[in-house]
Amino acid sequence: MGRKFFVGGNWKCNGTTEEVKKIVSMLNGAEVPSGDIVEVVVSPPFVFLPLVKNSLRPEFHVAAQNCWVKKGGAFTGEVSAEMLVNLEIPWVILGHSERRLILNEANEFVGEKVAYALSQGLKVIACIGETLEQRESGSTMDVVAAQTKAIAALVSNWANVVLAYEPVWAIGTGKVATPAQAQEVHCELRKWLKANVSDEVAATTRIIYGGSVNGGNCKELAGQPDVDGFLVGGASLKPEFVDILKSATVKSA
Ligand code: PGA
Repeated sequence: MGRKFFVGGNWKCNGTTEEVKKIVSMLNGAEVPSGDIVEVVVSPPFVFLPLVKNSLRPEFHVAAQNCWVKKGGAFTGEVSAEMLVNLEIPWVILGHSERRLILNEANEFVGEKVAYALSQGLKVIACIGETLEQRESGSTMDVVAAQTKAIAALVSNWANVVLAYEPVWAIGTGKVATPAQAQEVHCELRKWLKANVSDEVAATTRIIYGGSVNGGNCKELAGQPDVDGFLVGGASLKPEFVDILKSATVKSA
């Protein structure tokens, strides 16, 4: 089916110039599976994007953590998709739960952002995921389907979309989803794509897992048939990120 393993490192709002340089040199020196086994994208804060892009090994790519919903202009504090394209930043993370929940980004707004970023030529890591309350009330699939639907309503070409399933209760908590929990939602999402978008999109779209992925739990998660990679927060700032990249070989073994 050709879904190349994808690992994103989401650095969130962390780092100084010195710390960023250290992570880049760690990544540049690391022995990792080749580019046909794993696609690697790291996402520093906006201000460090040029530094990371210009110093990172060329087979690793960079992503912004957000961008404005439309063309730039009088939107104080925002960064437009056009600016990212101008800086040759190929990827952007959109709809992260920290933005959905803390900054009140609604499903439709995230859908608009994804569509606009794609229209400008960016590739998008689109994040979805349920809260603990939603999981406990049995509405996980309804929640992630509604989040995905708001994207699908505005997007016809999924070639440049990676879908990141990140249960909110697992993010930054050390409480990783079990491999079975991750597989169940990924499999349901793929079924949703098949029923609501197309067989092809369901078969080819990478669905990656995020939420407390680390060097210890990545292999078992990577072994799940519908887990096509990871979006990694905390552990992407540490040397164990390299172990997570290496888990891609589980798929090719
Ligand atoms: P975490 O974050 O790995 O620190 O749980 C994941 C994410 O928010 O993308």
